[in-house]
Amino acid sequence: MDKYDKVMDLAKRRGFFSPSCEIYGGVAGFLDFGPMGTLLKRNIERKWRETFIYRHHGLIYEIETPVVMPSKVFEASGHVDHFTDMIVECLSCHKRFRADHLIVDQLGDVQGIEGKSPRELDEIIREKNLRCPECKGMLGQVTTFNLLFKTYIGPYAENVAYMRPEAAQGMFVNFKNIYNTMRERLPIGLAQIGKVMRNEISPRQGPIRLREFTIMEIEFFFDPNSPGCDLLNEVRQKKLRLLTEDMVSAGVADPIEITLDEAVRERVILSEWQAYFMALSTDFISDLGVPKENQLFIAKLENERAHYSAQTFDQLVKLDRWGWVEVSGHAYRTDYDLSRHQTFSGQDLMVFKKFDTPVKEKVLVARPRVEVISSNCGKETGKVISAIKVADPQSLRDALSKGPTSINGLEVRPEFVEFVEEERMTTGRRFVPHVAEPSFGADRLVYVSMEYAYQEREGRVILSLPKTIAPIQVSVFPLVNKDGLPEKALEIYRLIKSEGYLADFDDAGSIGRRYARSDEIGTPLAITIDHKTMEDGTVTVRDRDTWNQVRVPINNLSEYLRDYFAKICTPQ
Ligand code: GLY
Repeated sequence: MDKYDKVMDLAKRRGFFSPSCEIYGGVAGFLDFGPMGTLLKRNIERKWRETFIYRHHGLIYEIETPVVMPSKVFEASGHVDHFTDMIVECLSCHKRFRADHLIVDQLGDVQGIEGKSPRELDEIIREKNLRCPECKGMLGQVTTFNLLFKTYIGPYAENVAYMRPEAAQGMFVNFKNIYNTMRERLPIGLAQIGKVMRNEISPRQGPIRLREFTIMEIEFFFDPNSPGCDLLNEVRQKKLRLLTEDMVSAGVADPIEITLDEAVRERVILSEWQAYFMALSTDFISDLGVPKENQLFIAKLENERAHYSAQTFDQLVKLDRWGWVEVSGHAYRTDYDLSRHQTFSGQDLMVFKKFDTPVKEKVLVARPRVEVISSNCGKETGKVISAIKVADPQSLRDALSKGPTSINGLEVRPEFVEFVEEERMTTGRRFVPHVAEPSFGADRLVYVSMEYAYQEREGRVILSLPKTIAPIQVSVFPLVNKDGLPEKALEIYRLIKSEGYLADFDDAGSIGRRYARSDEIGTPLAITIDHKTMEDGTVTVRDRDTWNQVRVPINNLSEYLRDYFAKICTPQ
Protein backbone atom coordinates (compact mmCIF):
# COMPACT_ATOMS: atom_id res chain seq x y z
CA MET A 1 0.00 0.00 0.00
CA ASP A 2 1.35 3.44 -0.84
CA LYS A 3 0.55 6.53 1.21
CA TYR A 4 -2.50 7.32 -0.92
CA ASP A 5 -4.05 3.92 -0.22
CA LYS A 6 -3.22 4.24 3.47
CA VAL A 7 -4.80 7.67 3.76
CA MET A 8 -7.87 6.53 1.82
CA ASP A 9 -8.18 3.51 4.11
CA LEU A 10 -7.89 5.71 7.20
CA ALA A 11 -10.35 8.23 5.72
CA LYS A 12 -12.98 5.57 5.35
CA ARG A 13 -12.26 3.67 8.55
CA ARG A 14 -12.38 6.75 10.78
CA GLY A 15 -15.18 8.75 9.18
CA PHE A 16 -13.26 11.36 7.20
CA PHE A 17 -14.63 10.69 3.72
CA SER A 18 -15.68 7.93 1.35
CA PRO A 19 -17.04 7.61 -2.21
CA SER A 20 -20.53 9.08 -2.43
CA CYS A 21 -23.60 6.77 -2.44
CA GLU A 22 -21.47 3.73 -1.71
CA ILE A 23 -24.49 1.53 -0.96
CA TYR A 24 -25.38 1.97 -4.65
CA GLY A 25 -21.87 1.26 -5.84
CA GLY A 26 -20.46 4.80 -5.49
CA VAL A 27 -20.41 7.66 -7.98
CA ALA A 28 -17.06 8.74 -9.39
CA GLY A 29 -16.20 12.34 -8.70
CA PHE A 30 -18.42 12.79 -5.64
CA LEU A 31 -17.41 12.44 -1.99
CA ASP A 32 -19.35 11.99 1.21
CA PHE A 33 -17.69 13.58 4.22
CA GLY A 34 -18.17 11.81 7.55
CA PRO A 35 -18.06 13.37 11.03
CA MET A 36 -14.26 13.73 11.23
CA GLY A 37 -13.89 14.86 7.61
CA THR A 38 -16.57 17.48 8.00
CA LEU A 39 -14.89 18.90 11.09
CA LEU A 40 -11.50 18.90 9.36
CA LYS A 41 -12.95 20.59 6.27
CA ARG A 42 -14.68 23.27 8.37
CA ASN A 43 -11.39 23.95 10.16
CA ILE A 44 -9.59 24.34 6.83
CA GLU A 45 -12.31 26.72 5.69
CA ARG A 46 -11.99 28.64 8.96
CA LYS A 47 -8.23 28.88 8.54
CA TRP A 48 -8.79 30.21 5.02
CA ARG A 49 -11.31 32.78 6.31
CA GLU A 50 -8.81 33.87 8.98
CA THR A 51 -5.97 34.18 6.48
CA PHE A 52 -7.80 35.85 3.62
CA ILE A 53 -10.99 37.47 4.94
CA TYR A 54 -11.11 38.31 8.65
CA ARG A 55 -7.69 39.90 8.81
CA HIS A 56 -8.70 42.07 5.82
CA HIS A 57 -12.05 43.14 7.21
CA GLY A 58 -12.97 46.46 5.65
CA LEU A 59 -11.24 45.44 2.43
CA ILE A 60 -12.50 41.93 1.71
CA TYR A 61 -16.06 40.80 2.43
CA GLU A 62 -17.57 37.34 2.31
CA ILE A 63 -20.84 36.93 0.44
CA GLU A 64 -23.05 33.97 -0.50
CA THR A 65 -24.81 33.47 -3.83
CA PRO A 66 -26.73 30.55 -5.41
CA VAL A 67 -25.24 27.48 -7.02
CA VAL A 68 -27.73 27.59 -9.91
CA MET A 69 -27.44 30.59 -12.22
CA PRO A 70 -29.27 31.41 -15.45
CA SER A 71 -27.66 30.51 -18.74
CA LYS A 72 -27.09 34.20 -19.56
CA VAL A 73 -24.49 34.46 -16.76
CA PHE A 74 -22.35 31.73 -18.25
CA GLU A 75 -22.83 32.95 -21.81
CA ALA A 76 -21.41 36.27 -20.61
CA SER A 77 -18.62 34.66 -18.56
CA GLY A 78 -17.52 32.62 -21.59
CA HIS A 79 -18.07 29.25 -19.89
CA VAL A 80 -20.75 28.15 -22.38
CA ASP A 81 -18.22 28.54 -25.20
CA HIS A 82 -14.90 27.81 -23.52
CA PHE A 83 -15.33 25.60 -20.44
CA THR A 84 -14.48 22.41 -22.27
CA ASP A 85 -12.19 19.41 -22.20
CA MET A 86 -11.28 17.19 -25.14
CA ILE A 87 -13.12 13.92 -25.36
CA VAL A 88 -12.58 10.81 -27.44
CA GLU A 89 -14.85 7.78 -27.79
CA CYS A 90 -13.92 4.17 -28.45
CA LEU A 91 -15.61 3.01 -31.66
CA SER A 92 -15.97 -0.54 -30.28
CA CYS A 93 -17.00 -0.35 -26.61
CA HIS A 94 -18.19 3.30 -26.77
CA LYS A 95 -16.43 4.24 -23.54
CA ARG A 96 -15.45 7.91 -23.50
CA PHE A 97 -12.14 9.29 -22.28
CA ARG A 98 -10.52 12.62 -21.68
CA ALA A 99 -8.27 12.74 -24.72
CA ASP A 100 -5.23 14.42 -23.12
CA HIS A 101 -5.29 11.98 -20.18
CA LEU A 102 -5.55 8.99 -22.51
CA ILE A 103 -2.50 10.22 -24.44
CA VAL A 104 -0.41 10.92 -21.32
CA ASP A 105 -1.38 7.53 -19.84
CA GLN A 106 -0.09 5.75 -22.94
CA LEU A 107 2.87 7.94 -23.93
CA GLY A 108 3.98 9.56 -20.66
CA ASP A 109 4.28 13.34 -20.30
CA VAL A 110 3.80 15.22 -23.56
CA GLN A 111 5.06 18.81 -23.58
CA GLY A 112 2.21 21.34 -23.86
CA ILE A 113 -0.53 18.70 -23.90
CA GLU A 114 -2.88 20.93 -21.86
CA GLY A 115 -3.07 23.60 -24.55
CA LYS A 116 -3.46 21.37 -27.61
CA SER A 117 -6.46 21.64 -29.94
CA PRO A 118 -8.74 18.67 -30.78
CA ARG A 119 -7.03 18.39 -34.17
CA GLU A 120 -3.56 18.23 -32.58
CA LEU A 121 -4.67 15.56 -30.10
CA ASP A 122 -6.27 13.65 -32.95
CA GLU A 123 -2.99 13.72 -34.86
CA ILE A 124 -1.10 12.29 -31.86
CA ILE A 125 -3.67 9.50 -31.47
CA ARG A 126 -3.46 8.53 -35.18
CA GLU A 127 0.31 8.94 -35.47
CA LYS A 128 1.02 6.80 -32.40
CA ASN A 129 -1.82 4.42 -33.15
CA LEU A 130 -3.27 4.80 -29.66
CA ARG A 131 -6.16 2.48 -28.76
CA CYS A 132 -8.97 2.26 -26.25
CA PRO A 133 -7.44 1.50 -22.85
CA GLU A 134 -10.40 -0.78 -22.00
CA CYS A 135 -10.88 -2.96 -25.11
CA LYS A 136 -8.06 -1.92 -27.46
CA GLY A 137 -10.67 -0.76 -30.01
CA MET A 138 -10.11 2.07 -32.50
CA LEU A 139 -10.69 5.58 -31.20
CA GLY A 140 -13.00 8.10 -32.90
CA GLN A 141 -12.43 11.80 -33.54
CA VAL A 142 -11.41 14.04 -30.66
CA THR A 143 -14.13 16.61 -29.94
CA THR A 144 -14.87 19.10 -27.19
CA PHE A 145 -17.10 18.39 -24.21
CA ASN A 146 -18.59 21.20 -22.11
CA LEU A 147 -18.12 20.62 -18.39
CA LEU A 148 -21.10 22.69 -17.23
CA PHE A 149 -23.89 20.76 -15.51
CA LYS A 150 -27.10 21.87 -17.21
CA THR A 151 -30.48 22.22 -15.54
CA TYR A 152 -33.76 24.18 -15.86
CA ILE A 153 -35.32 26.72 -13.56
CA GLY A 154 -38.96 25.82 -12.88
CA PRO A 155 -41.08 23.73 -15.24
CA TYR A 156 -39.87 25.57 -18.34
CA ALA A 157 -37.45 23.79 -20.64
CA GLU A 158 -36.51 27.13 -22.18
CA ASN A 159 -35.29 28.45 -18.79
CA VAL A 160 -31.86 26.88 -19.16
CA ALA A 161 -29.55 27.31 -16.20
CA TYR A 162 -26.22 25.87 -15.10
CA MET A 163 -24.69 24.79 -11.83
CA ARG A 164 -21.85 27.23 -11.27
CA PRO A 165 -18.38 25.84 -12.07
CA GLU A 166 -16.77 28.60 -9.98
CA ALA A 167 -18.10 30.90 -7.26
CA ALA A 168 -16.57 33.87 -9.08
CA GLN A 169 -19.57 34.71 -11.24
CA GLY A 170 -21.75 35.31 -8.17
CA MET A 171 -19.23 37.97 -7.16
CA PHE A 172 -19.04 39.57 -10.59
CA VAL A 173 -22.81 39.88 -11.00
CA ASN A 174 -23.04 41.42 -7.51
CA PHE A 175 -20.01 43.67 -7.78
CA LYS A 176 -21.67 46.97 -8.64
CA ASN A 177 -24.42 46.61 -6.07
CA ILE A 178 -21.96 45.77 -3.29
CA TYR A 179 -19.55 48.49 -4.41
CA ASN A 180 -22.41 50.98 -4.05
CA THR A 181 -23.54 49.68 -0.66
CA MET A 182 -19.97 49.58 0.71
CA ARG A 183 -19.34 53.29 0.16
CA GLU A 184 -17.95 53.07 -3.38
CA ARG A 185 -14.37 52.34 -2.39
CA LEU A 186 -11.73 50.56 -4.44
CA PRO A 187 -9.95 48.26 -4.00
CA ILE A 188 -12.53 45.86 -2.66
CA GLY A 189 -12.50 42.07 -2.49
CA LEU A 190 -15.49 39.75 -2.48
CA ALA A 191 -15.07 36.22 -1.21
CA GLN A 192 -17.14 33.08 -1.27
CA ILE A 193 -16.90 29.56 0.04
CA GLY A 194 -19.39 27.26 -1.60
CA LYS A 195 -20.15 24.27 -3.76
CA VAL A 196 -19.32 24.24 -7.45
CA MET A 197 -19.88 21.56 -10.08
CA ARG A 198 -17.87 20.47 -13.08
CA ASN A 199 -18.95 17.52 -15.17
CA GLU A 200 -15.49 15.99 -15.51
CA ILE A 201 -15.24 13.40 -18.29
CA SER A 202 -13.64 10.63 -16.25
CA PRO A 203 -12.48 11.79 -12.83
CA ARG A 204 -9.73 9.73 -11.29
CA GLN A 205 -7.46 10.39 -8.34
CA GLY A 206 -10.27 10.06 -5.74
CA PRO A 207 -10.61 13.24 -3.67
CA ILE A 208 -8.22 15.16 -5.94
CA ARG A 209 -10.51 15.53 -8.95
CA LEU A 210 -14.18 15.86 -8.12
CA ARG A 211 -17.32 16.70 -10.06
CA GLU A 212 -18.74 18.56 -7.07
CA PHE A 213 -16.47 20.34 -4.66
CA THR A 214 -16.15 23.32 -2.36
CA ILE A 215 -14.32 26.31 -3.71
CA MET A 216 -12.81 29.10 -1.62
CA GLU A 217 -12.43 32.09 -3.87
CA ILE A 218 -11.77 35.83 -3.83
CA GLU A 219 -12.42 38.30 -6.63
CA PHE A 220 -10.34 41.33 -5.76
CA PHE A 221 -11.36 44.47 -7.68
CA PHE A 222 -8.86 47.30 -8.17
CA ASP A 223 -8.22 50.36 -10.32
CA PRO A 224 -5.85 49.36 -13.17
CA ASN A 225 -4.37 52.89 -13.03
CA SER A 226 -3.54 52.44 -9.30
CA PRO A 227 -2.71 48.76 -9.19
CA GLY A 228 -0.37 48.98 -6.19
CA CYS A 229 -0.99 46.76 -3.18
CA ASP A 230 -0.41 48.69 0.03
CA LEU A 231 -0.13 45.45 2.01
CA LEU A 232 2.77 44.17 -0.08
CA ASN A 233 5.27 45.72 2.34
CA GLU A 234 4.27 43.14 4.93
CA VAL A 235 5.45 40.32 2.68
CA ARG A 236 7.93 42.01 0.31
CA GLN A 237 10.92 39.97 1.49
CA LYS A 238 9.11 36.64 1.55
CA LYS A 239 10.22 34.17 -1.06
CA LEU A 240 8.14 32.24 -3.55
CA ARG A 241 9.30 29.11 -5.31
CA LEU A 242 8.13 29.48 -8.86
CA LEU A 243 8.45 28.54 -12.50
CA THR A 244 7.88 31.48 -14.85
CA GLU A 245 6.22 31.17 -18.25
CA ASP A 246 9.64 31.31 -19.93
CA MET A 247 10.93 28.51 -17.73
CA VAL A 248 7.87 26.37 -18.43
CA SER A 249 8.22 26.96 -22.19
CA ALA A 250 11.88 25.96 -22.00
CA GLY A 251 11.01 22.77 -20.12
CA VAL A 252 12.84 23.84 -16.92
CA ALA A 253 11.73 21.73 -13.96
CA ASP A 254 13.60 23.34 -11.03
CA PRO A 255 11.85 26.42 -9.65
CA ILE A 256 13.61 29.68 -8.80
CA GLU A 257 13.29 31.24 -5.37
CA ILE A 258 12.33 34.85 -5.75
CA THR A 259 11.28 37.54 -3.28
CA LEU A 260 7.87 39.12 -3.78
CA ASP A 261 9.69 42.41 -4.23
CA GLU A 262 11.71 41.09 -7.15
CA ALA A 263 8.80 39.20 -8.67
CA VAL A 264 6.74 42.38 -8.83
CA ARG A 265 9.62 44.64 -9.91
CA GLU A 266 10.67 42.28 -12.71
CA ARG A 267 7.01 41.87 -13.78
CA VAL A 268 7.25 38.11 -13.21
CA ILE A 269 3.90 38.57 -11.46
CA LEU A 270 1.79 41.18 -13.25
CA SER A 271 -0.51 42.24 -10.44
CA GLU A 272 0.78 43.31 -7.03
CA TRP A 273 -2.43 42.08 -5.44
CA GLN A 274 -1.97 38.71 -7.07
CA ALA A 275 1.59 38.59 -5.69
CA TYR A 276 0.31 39.46 -2.21
CA PHE A 277 -2.28 36.67 -2.32
CA MET A 278 0.38 34.22 -3.52
CA ALA A 279 2.46 35.04 -0.44
CA LEU A 280 -0.55 34.49 1.83
CA SER A 281 -1.32 31.24 0.02
CA THR A 282 2.15 29.91 0.78
CA ASP A 283 1.57 30.59 4.48
CA PHE A 284 -1.93 29.13 4.35
CA ILE A 285 -0.76 25.87 2.77
CA SER A 286 2.17 25.71 5.24
CA ASP A 287 -0.33 26.10 8.07
CA LEU A 288 -2.08 22.98 6.77
CA GLY A 289 1.15 21.05 7.27
CA VAL A 290 2.85 21.22 3.85
CA PRO A 291 6.49 22.38 4.13
CA LYS A 292 7.49 25.23 1.80
CA GLU A 293 9.93 23.01 -0.11
CA ASN A 294 6.99 20.83 -1.17
CA GLN A 295 5.10 23.78 -2.66
CA LEU A 296 5.66 25.72 -5.85
CA PHE A 297 3.92 28.11 -8.22
CA ILE A 298 3.90 27.32 -11.91
CA ALA A 299 2.89 29.77 -14.63
CA LYS A 300 0.31 28.57 -17.12
CA LEU A 301 1.22 29.16 -20.75
CA GLU A 302 -1.12 31.31 -22.81
CA ASN A 303 -2.76 28.35 -24.54
CA GLU A 304 -3.22 26.57 -21.17
CA ARG A 305 -4.85 29.48 -19.37
CA ALA A 306 -8.57 29.90 -18.83
CA HIS A 307 -10.17 32.20 -21.38
CA TYR A 308 -10.49 35.05 -18.87
CA SER A 309 -6.92 35.16 -17.64
CA ALA A 310 -4.00 37.39 -18.65
CA GLN A 311 -1.69 35.52 -16.27
CA THR A 312 -2.20 32.46 -14.10
CA PHE A 313 0.00 30.78 -11.54
CA ASP A 314 -1.10 27.44 -10.17
CA GLN A 315 0.07 26.63 -6.67
CA LEU A 316 1.16 22.99 -6.53
CA VAL A 317 2.00 20.67 -3.68
CA LYS A 318 3.87 17.42 -3.93
CA LEU A 319 1.87 14.29 -3.21
CA ASP A 320 3.18 10.80 -2.68
CA ARG A 321 1.30 9.05 -5.49
CA TRP A 322 0.17 11.91 -7.72
CA GLY A 323 3.30 14.06 -7.84
CA TRP A 324 2.73 17.82 -8.16
CA VAL A 325 -0.96 18.61 -7.75
CA GLU A 326 -2.73 21.99 -7.99
CA VAL A 327 -4.24 23.30 -4.77
CA SER A 328 -4.94 26.87 -5.83
CA GLY A 329 -5.04 29.03 -8.93
CA HIS A 330 -4.04 32.70 -9.07
CA ALA A 331 -5.49 34.39 -12.11
CA TYR A 332 -5.22 37.98 -13.24
CA ARG A 333 -8.71 38.25 -14.77
CA THR A 334 -8.28 41.92 -15.81
CA ASP A 335 -11.65 43.55 -16.65
CA TYR A 336 -12.75 40.53 -18.69
CA ASP A 337 -15.70 39.37 -16.59
CA LEU A 338 -17.17 42.74 -15.62
CA SER A 339 -16.90 44.01 -19.21
CA ARG A 340 -18.62 40.92 -20.54
CA HIS A 341 -21.40 41.15 -17.95
CA GLN A 342 -21.80 44.82 -18.79
CA THR A 343 -22.21 44.01 -22.47
CA PHE A 344 -24.52 41.04 -21.93
CA SER A 345 -26.70 42.65 -19.24
CA GLY A 346 -26.76 46.17 -20.63
CA GLN A 347 -26.10 47.42 -17.06
CA ASP A 348 -23.45 49.97 -16.22
CA LEU A 349 -20.84 48.09 -14.17
CA MET A 350 -18.22 50.84 -14.28
CA VAL A 351 -17.02 52.84 -11.32
CA PHE A 352 -16.35 56.55 -11.24
CA LYS A 353 -13.26 58.12 -9.71
CA LYS A 354 -13.34 61.88 -9.25
CA PHE A 355 -10.27 63.95 -10.26
CA ASP A 356 -8.95 66.60 -7.86
CA THR A 357 -9.50 69.16 -10.64
CA PRO A 358 -11.48 68.70 -13.88
CA VAL A 359 -9.40 67.97 -16.99
CA LYS A 360 -9.94 68.16 -20.73
CA GLU A 361 -9.98 64.64 -22.16
CA LYS A 362 -10.64 62.76 -25.33
CA VAL A 363 -13.38 60.23 -24.74
CA LEU A 364 -14.70 57.48 -26.92
CA VAL A 365 -18.41 57.83 -27.59
CA ALA A 366 -20.74 55.23 -29.10
CA ARG A 367 -23.37 57.01 -31.22
CA PRO A 368 -26.38 54.92 -32.22
CA ARG A 369 -27.14 55.23 -35.96
CA VAL A 370 -30.85 55.79 -35.53
CA GLU A 371 -31.92 55.34 -39.19
CA VAL A 372 -29.99 52.07 -39.57
CA ILE A 373 -31.36 50.75 -36.29
CA SER A 374 -34.96 51.71 -37.01
CA SER A 375 -34.90 50.16 -40.47
CA ASN A 376 -33.60 46.88 -38.97
CA CYS A 377 -35.17 46.69 -35.53
CA GLY A 378 -38.75 47.96 -35.93
CA LYS A 379 -40.43 48.30 -32.55
CA GLU A 380 -37.25 47.32 -30.65
CA THR A 381 -35.50 50.48 -31.98
CA GLY A 382 -35.83 52.46 -28.72
CA LYS A 383 -34.48 49.58 -26.61
CA VAL A 384 -31.49 49.03 -28.90
CA ILE A 385 -30.64 52.74 -28.84
CA SER A 386 -30.73 52.83 -25.01
CA ALA A 387 -28.67 49.66 -24.78
CA ILE A 388 -25.96 51.21 -26.97
CA LYS A 389 -25.99 54.40 -24.91
CA VAL A 390 -25.43 52.66 -21.56
CA ALA A 391 -22.83 50.19 -22.83
CA ASP A 392 -19.16 50.89 -22.20
CA PRO A 393 -17.99 52.28 -25.58
CA GLN A 394 -14.62 50.55 -25.48
CA SER A 395 -16.04 47.12 -24.58
CA LEU A 396 -18.78 47.57 -27.20
CA ARG A 397 -16.22 48.48 -29.85
CA ASP A 398 -14.14 45.43 -28.93
CA ALA A 399 -17.19 43.18 -29.11
CA LEU A 400 -18.43 44.62 -32.41
CA SER A 401 -15.00 44.34 -34.00
CA LYS A 402 -15.67 40.57 -33.99
CA GLY A 403 -19.20 40.90 -35.46
CA PRO A 404 -22.74 41.27 -34.11
CA THR A 405 -23.09 41.11 -30.33
CA SER A 406 -25.95 40.84 -27.87
CA ILE A 407 -26.88 43.33 -25.16
CA ASN A 408 -29.59 42.20 -22.79
CA GLY A 409 -30.96 39.83 -25.46
CA LEU A 410 -30.96 42.51 -28.18
CA GLU A 411 -28.83 41.99 -31.24
CA VAL A 412 -26.47 44.90 -31.94
CA ARG A 413 -24.69 44.90 -35.31
CA PRO A 414 -21.51 46.82 -36.12
CA GLU A 415 -23.39 49.06 -38.58
CA PHE A 416 -25.75 50.23 -35.78
CA VAL A 417 -23.00 52.25 -34.07
CA GLU A 418 -20.61 55.01 -34.96
CA PHE A 419 -17.61 55.45 -32.66
CA VAL A 420 -16.19 58.94 -32.34
CA GLU A 421 -13.65 60.58 -30.07
CA GLU A 422 -14.88 63.78 -28.42
CA GLU A 423 -13.07 66.33 -26.29
CA ARG A 424 -14.80 66.99 -23.02
CA MET A 425 -14.11 68.53 -19.66
CA THR A 426 -14.24 65.58 -17.33
CA THR A 427 -14.53 65.68 -13.58
CA GLY A 428 -13.37 62.12 -13.17
CA ARG A 429 -12.75 58.77 -14.78
CA ARG A 430 -15.18 55.97 -15.43
CA PHE A 431 -13.61 52.56 -15.76
CA VAL A 432 -14.14 48.85 -15.36
CA PRO A 433 -12.07 47.59 -12.39
CA HIS A 434 -9.48 44.87 -12.87
CA VAL A 435 -9.55 41.65 -10.87
CA ALA A 436 -6.98 39.41 -9.20
CA GLU A 437 -8.36 36.04 -8.14
CA PRO A 438 -6.98 33.47 -5.71
CA SER A 439 -9.06 30.27 -5.81
CA PHE A 440 -8.69 27.11 -3.69
CA GLY A 441 -10.34 23.69 -3.68
CA ALA A 442 -11.26 22.81 -0.08
CA ASP A 443 -11.88 19.08 -0.54
CA ARG A 444 -8.49 18.29 -1.98
CA LEU A 445 -6.93 20.24 0.87
CA VAL A 446 -8.60 17.81 3.27
CA TYR A 447 -6.75 15.00 1.50
CA VAL A 448 -3.49 16.99 1.27
CA SER A 449 -3.49 17.82 4.99
CA MET A 450 -4.18 14.17 5.83
CA GLU A 451 -1.41 12.87 3.59
CA TYR A 452 1.11 15.27 5.13
CA ALA A 453 -0.09 14.37 8.64
CA TYR A 454 -0.05 10.61 8.08
CA GLN A 455 2.61 8.78 10.06
CA GLU A 456 3.18 5.30 11.36
CA ARG A 457 5.00 4.45 14.56
CA GLU A 458 5.38 1.03 16.15
CA GLY A 459 2.73 -0.33 13.80
CA ARG A 460 0.25 2.40 14.73
CA VAL A 461 -1.15 5.26 12.69
CA ILE A 462 -0.79 8.83 13.91
CA LEU A 463 -2.47 11.68 12.08
CA SER A 464 -0.21 14.58 13.05
CA LEU A 465 -2.52 17.31 11.82
CA PRO A 466 -1.60 20.87 12.78
CA LYS A 467 -3.42 21.48 16.05
CA THR A 468 -5.28 24.42 14.50
CA ILE A 469 -7.17 22.15 12.11
CA ALA A 470 -7.46 18.84 14.00
CA PRO A 471 -11.12 17.73 14.02
CA ILE A 472 -11.18 17.08 17.77
CA GLN A 473 -8.95 18.98 20.15
CA VAL A 474 -8.94 16.87 23.30
CA SER A 475 -9.82 13.28 24.27
CA VAL A 476 -10.78 12.48 27.83
CA PHE A 477 -10.40 8.96 29.23
CA PRO A 478 -11.03 7.37 32.62
CA LEU A 479 -8.17 4.86 33.08
CA VAL A 480 -10.63 2.22 34.30
CA ASN A 481 -14.39 2.10 34.59
CA LYS A 482 -14.57 1.92 38.39
CA ASP A 483 -13.50 3.63 41.63
CA GLY A 484 -15.21 6.90 40.69
CA LEU A 485 -12.86 7.52 37.73
CA PRO A 486 -15.62 7.65 35.03
CA GLU A 487 -17.57 10.22 37.07
CA LYS A 488 -14.45 12.37 37.57
CA ALA A 489 -13.55 12.02 33.87
CA LEU A 490 -17.06 13.13 32.85
CA GLU A 491 -16.72 16.15 35.14
CA ILE A 492 -13.46 17.14 33.43
CA TYR A 493 -14.89 16.40 29.98
CA ARG A 494 -17.82 18.77 30.70
CA LEU A 495 -15.45 21.43 32.02
CA ILE A 496 -13.35 21.28 28.85
CA LYS A 497 -16.42 21.45 26.63
CA SER A 498 -17.81 24.38 28.58
CA GLU A 499 -14.63 26.25 27.76
CA GLY A 500 -15.27 25.90 24.05
CA TYR A 501 -13.04 22.95 23.12
CA LEU A 502 -14.24 20.13 20.94
CA ALA A 503 -13.67 17.08 23.12
CA ASP A 504 -14.31 13.35 22.90
CA PHE A 505 -15.08 11.14 25.88
CA ASP A 506 -14.02 7.52 25.43
CA ASP A 507 -14.32 4.78 28.05
CA ALA A 508 -14.46 1.76 25.73
CA GLY A 509 -11.62 -0.76 25.54
CA SER A 510 -8.08 -0.70 26.88
CA ILE A 511 -6.34 2.63 27.43
CA GLY A 512 -3.84 1.69 24.69
CA ARG A 513 -6.64 1.25 22.17
CA ARG A 514 -8.21 4.52 23.20
CA TYR A 515 -4.91 6.38 22.70
CA ALA A 516 -4.58 4.67 19.31
CA ARG A 517 -8.09 5.76 18.24
CA SER A 518 -7.41 9.31 19.37
CA ASP A 519 -4.06 9.40 17.50
CA GLU A 520 -5.66 8.07 14.31
CA ILE A 521 -8.11 10.93 14.05
CA GLY A 522 -5.40 13.43 14.90
CA THR A 523 -6.53 14.62 18.34
CA PRO A 524 -3.54 16.57 19.69
CA LEU A 525 -4.07 15.96 23.42
CA ALA A 526 -5.46 13.09 25.48
CA ILE A 527 -6.30 13.59 29.16
CA THR A 528 -6.42 10.54 31.39
CA ILE A 529 -8.04 10.41 34.79
CA ASP A 530 -6.41 7.75 36.99
CA HIS A 531 -6.22 6.79 40.66
CA LYS A 532 -3.65 9.50 41.34
CA THR A 533 -6.23 12.04 40.12
CA MET A 534 -8.47 11.02 43.02
CA GLU A 535 -5.59 11.45 45.47
CA ASP A 536 -3.88 14.66 44.36
CA GLY A 537 -6.22 16.31 41.80
CA THR A 538 -3.85 15.95 38.83
CA VAL A 539 -4.45 14.35 35.42
CA THR A 540 -2.06 13.11 32.75
CA VAL A 541 -1.96 15.05 29.51
CA ARG A 542 -0.50 13.02 26.66
CA ASP A 543 0.85 14.56 23.46
CA ARG A 544 -0.24 12.84 20.23
CA ASP A 545 3.07 13.30 18.41
CA THR A 546 5.65 12.61 21.10
CA TRP A 547 3.51 10.35 23.31
CA ASN A 548 5.03 12.25 26.22
CA GLN A 549 2.86 12.55 29.29
CA VAL A 550 2.84 15.34 31.86
CA ARG A 551 0.82 15.66 35.04
CA VAL A 552 -1.26 18.78 35.23
CA PRO A 553 -3.34 19.87 38.26
CA ILE A 554 -7.03 20.04 37.33
CA ASN A 555 -7.01 23.61 38.63
CA ASN A 556 -4.40 24.52 35.99
CA LEU A 557 -5.96 22.54 33.15
CA SER A 558 -7.83 25.48 31.62
CA GLU A 559 -4.69 27.58 31.52
CA TYR A 560 -2.66 24.68 30.15
CA LEU A 561 -5.12 24.12 27.29
CA ARG A 562 -5.43 27.85 26.63
CA ASP A 563 -1.66 28.16 26.21
CA TYR A 564 -1.43 25.03 24.09
CA PHE A 565 -4.23 26.06 21.71
CA ALA A 566 -3.44 29.77 21.79
CA LYS A 567 -2.99 29.83 18.02
CA ILE A 568 -6.52 28.58 17.43
CA CYS A 569 -8.08 31.18 19.70
CA THR A 570 -6.18 34.14 18.28
CA PRO A 571 -7.35 35.27 14.86
CA GLN A 572 -4.22 36.11 12.87
N1 GLY B 1 -12.38 30.58 -10.56
C1 GLY B 1 -11.31 29.74 -10.74
C2 GLY B 1 -11.58 28.53 -11.52
O1 GLY B 1 -12.61 28.45 -12.14
O2 GLY B 1 -10.79 27.64 -11.54
